[in-house]
Amino acid sequence: MATDLLRTKGYTAVILSFFVGYAVVYNYTEGNTFYKISHFSTTTRKPEFLNEDRAPAFKRPVFNRWDENTCSKPRQQFVFIKTHKTGSMTSVNIFQRYAIYHNLTPLIARATSYVSWPFPPAETDYVHTKGERYDALFGHMRYNKTWLRSKFPANTAYISLIREPLSHLKSCMKFYSLPNLLKITSINPVKTFLQHPWQYKNLSEAYFSFCNVTWDGTRNHLAFDLGYPTEGADDLEAAESYIKELEYDFTMVLLLEHLDESFVLLRRLMCWEIQDVVYDSVPKNVRTYGYKSYIPTPEELANLRKWKAVDYLLYDTFNRSLWRKIAAQGPDFYRELQFYREVKRNISWYCHEERKRKPNLTITVEASNWSPQFVVNGDYCTAIETRELTLMKKIRQKESWEEDKRWAIVLPVQNVQAIIKGRPTFKYKIEEMNYARELLQKNKKQKKHVYKKRTHPRPRGL
Ligand SMILES: *[C@@H]1O[C@H](CO)[C@@H](O)[C@H](O)[C@H]1NC(C)=O
Ligand SMILES: *[C@@H]1O[C@H](CO)[C@@H](O)[C@H](O)[C@H]1NC(C)=O
Ligand SMILES: *[C@@H]1O[C@H](CO)[C@@H](O)[C@H](O)[C@H]1NC(C)=O
Ligand SMILES: *[C@@H]1O[C@H](CO)[C@@H](O)[C@H](O)[C@H]1NC(C)=O
Ligand SMILES: *[C@@H]1O[C@H](CO)[C@@H](O)[C@H](O)[C@H]1NC(C)=O
Ligand SMILES: *[C@@H]1O[C@H](CO)[C@@H](O)[C@H](O)[C@H]1NC(C)=O
Repeated sequence: MATDLLRTKGYTAVILSFFVGYAVVYNYTEGNTFYKISHFSTTTRKPEFLNEDRAPAFKRPVFNRWDENTCSKPRQQFVFIKTHKTGSMTSVNIFQRYAIYHNLTPLIARATSYVSWPFPPAETDYVHTKGERYDALFGHMRYNKTWLRSKFPANTAYISLIREPLSHLKSCMKFYSLPNLLKITSINPVKTFLQHPWQYKNLSEAYFSFCNVTWDGTRNHLAFDLGYPTEGADDLEAAESYIKELEYDFTMVLLLEHLDESFVLLRRLMCWEIQDVVYDSVPKNVRTYGYKSYIPTPEELANLRKWKAVDYLLYDTFNRSLWRKIAAQGPDFYRELQFYREVKRNISWYCHEERKRKPNLTITVEASNWSPQFVVNGDYCTAIETRELTLMKKIRQKESWEEDKRWAIVLPVQNVQAIIKGRPTFKYKIEEMNYARELLQKNKKQKKHVYKKRTHPRPRGL
């Protein structure tokens, strides 16, 4: 009886932890992460622009004059491939804001912010517009050239964001609990792993059974997000030609380590305005953990370079490409960069400090060689401080596209946790819930069965 009870309890615990884990992960990554950066009081209340009764939100300030010179017409069709663990939460704000301010028609998922990852894109998973015309994409999606070209006009700008591979590894280790997948228990899993990365290959390759895709969170995650297969990790010739093609196809790949330079260049290439590319000085999704500042030995770094050869090639290629493009802009680029940084500092000071003391204050950024004058007010602050999913709500609201939860997908981090626990992976949350329910029912039946068996009298003499 005691064992029966224990077993039932065990099952209940499994089911419970399933749902609790689900809720925790959901809250952690999707739900109200908006409320997490609470050291500034503005971020803890509901943004005012979400209140229906307020004046039209995101009204673009009117310009006094439009000074310059180089751009005739901004490019307003873009696909932003949002890579994982690259600080893309900060950058996606710029693309969402741009779409909202300029009334672009985005291609968005029917629920959550995932259009497709790692599963291929499907017609059922996104909101269809009349005439099937789309201007922008900024939800998570694994780059799929064929599919994207069939949805977006030929002159669409392709943009992405990547990060230096070592810090990317650390961030992935932490976020996906990779030490559990790799069965590494040391306090510095990055060091342990980097001593013999190949030894962990059987464990590090996570298989998403529901879509027959293998992903390795320790290896070429960036290239994977940009469409390169995990299986090609050792085929450097294929990688090289794939990356060459990316370089040709992408208007701009931003680098997290050079974000200001990247955004100034982006502004120039897209012919946008400075107010379009200002981002909040408070990063949106930052975690602290022990091995974050670990500096690997030269041997460990050499191992990483070999292990992540494709991601290093990708990073080095786009780093060179960034500086080459900057050089082509001439010395005026650096004057703009300096101006941009000053504008960001002023806006940060205004949004996070001065506005608290003087609620009616606005500041004006004067016209420059690169952009017209613009006014920064409370709405502007709210817009740059608002997190991805809250802006997503705003976009759905604006387009009257209600989120349809039936199409909510299981977040990647959650499927990785399932793999760690030896459970099946799923595409949709509904499927995962059904699985949990079936498990519960099976367990109930088993319980009855065991109970019946036990009520039979034991044969004597045994
Ligand atoms: C890209 O999209 C097409 C559908 O248009 C699909 O058949 C293919 O599997 C996708 N590729 C990947 C890597 O998801
Ligand atoms: C990894 O898995 C393959 C296939 O299952 C097996 O043949 C191989 O011995 C494993 N390697 C290690 C290092 O465990
Ligand atoms: C799964 O993917 C592998 C590698 O891409 C492929 O070789 C295999 O045929 C696929 N299996 C199924 C059942 O689609
Ligand atoms: C990117 O390239 C620049 C210029 O060559 C170099 O100074 C910098 O170290 C590179 N960044 C990284 C993270 O490798
Ligand atoms: C701020 O503006 C509101 C409405 O525009 C006004 O009622 C209020 O007096 C102003 N407060 C200050 C301190 O100027
Ligand atoms: C930043 O603020 C200072 C102080 O108000 C002002 O003098 C300066 O012109 C501002 N810079 C920009 C680029 O707006």
